[in-house]
Amino acid sequence: MRILALAGSLRSGSYNRKLLAVAVRAIGARAEIDTLDLRDVAVPVYDGDLEQRDGLPEGARAFKGRIAAAEALLIATPEYNNSVPGPLKNAIDWASRPPGNPFRDRTVLLMGASPGPFGAVRGVLAVRQILTALHALVIPAYVTLPHADEAFDASGDPRDPKVTERVTRACDELLRITAALGRRD
Ligand code: FNR
Repeated sequence: MRILALAGSLRSGSYNRKLLAVAVRAIGARAEIDTLDLRDVAVPVYDGDLEQRDGLPEGARAFKGRIAAAEALLIATPEYNNSVPGPLKNAIDWASRPPGNPFRDRTVLLMGASPGPFGAVRGVLAVRQILTALHALVIPAYVTLPHADEAFDASGDPRDPKVTERVTRACDELLRITAALGRRD
């Protein structure tokens, strides 16, 4: 089973990158993980004129290929102004353009981390709405991490073992549901 893992934040010190790493460790050898840095999805802000003139940018085609090559997606995202961060939405918008819809039938586990008290839950719900529109199968389980600025030690491990337990349970669900659905084309 192949899983594409990405954080919805570009910054290197991102709490969501750290949360993603906890999930990747929890999955361990149970799946092949392709970790994508959203910074490497080199796409301009979506512009229909650009698309008509030049087609999909190379970065969008590469992103689509990596989604299509996976059975499942693991996404850890912040919320910006109670919703999905622009860079993540822009990358998804480009990847949703024809030919083909790589999101169709991909199982997805959503996670979110924020220094605030809501743990990016509104961003997570916004991404669920977007990916559901693209016929991805966002699993019911999800993870939110409030007060993320205090949640990790210097080596990037959660200070509270319950966080690792919650992430592991959600990853177990992703693996169980993805395995039950089998290979995707
Ligand atoms: C934020 N932040 C934020 N946090 C939150 O809990 N709810 C929100 O609505 C917002 N809105 C928001 C808008 C913009 C434009 C920025 C840049 C930030 C704060 C955000 O959670 C914080 O910067 C996190 O550290 C971002 O996640 P990463 O980069 O640590 O993964």
